[in-house]
Amino acid sequence: MKQNVHVMEHPLIQHKLAMIRDVNTGPKEFRELVEELSMLMAYEVTRNIPVEEVEVQTPLCKTKCKSISGKKLGIVPILRAGLGMVNGMLKLIPTAKVGHIGLYRDPETLKPVEYYCKLPPDIEERELILLDPMLATGGSACAGIQFLKEKGANNIKLMCLIAAPEGINVVCAAHPDVEIYTASVDECLNDHAYIVPGLGDAGDRLFGTK
Ligand code: PRP
Ligand code: URA
Repeated sequence: MKQNVHVMEHPLIQHKLAMIRDVNTGPKEFRELVEELSMLMAYEVTRNIPVEEVEVQTPLCKTKCKSISGKKLGIVPILRAGLGMVNGMLKLIPTAKVGHIGLYRDPETLKPVEYYCKLPPDIEERELILLDPMLATGGSACAGIQFLKEKGANNIKLMCLIAAPEGINVVCAAHPDVEIYTASVDECLNDHAYIVPGLGDAGDRLFGTK
């Protein structure tokens, strides 16, 4: 596995991943599971964020503790499927600022088309976690990362639930500075650039469309 790709093998993550892959899992359960998976993955993706020493008065005495330092984290879901991952992240990091990037994959060209962007201020000083459940060709993730960099971001992580080897290669080649966190690296893409075995269309399964 490439150096900057982190596959989260924790049994809870793998168990919930199996459930969202299941074609019989309906939108309500699918949404809940994506939220839970995002919360579990947030734990790992934030493992190296900087902390500083603070003094805390306990009921017994003063003691030195650790507290997250610097600018707050930013989380940036790629619309629309990335929205399903926001609440899980916010449960663990409630002070994170949330930006949004709207991209959809044109079904003919398979290229990402941008339609919305609203980001938190000072993004050059923030650690940003880009959220999208599916990393397929890598087009959407690369466009999202490029977009954040053009706005000044210089500390970006990508968190997805399922990644295809093709998408990983594309992101790693274009953005070697971006660490990728995923619950699975699947086998391949099919002729329609869907991840196999994957889970189907994440946006449709989250929102009950199709
Ligand atoms: C899906 C998914 C990613 C993209 C991945 O979104 O959520 O954003 O496809 O494919 P890629 O790696 O080949 O770019 P989609 O374009 O279907 O839009 P949606 O979230 O609005 O359903
Ligand atoms: N987008 C999805 O939602 N699923 C895939 O398998 C590929 C792209």
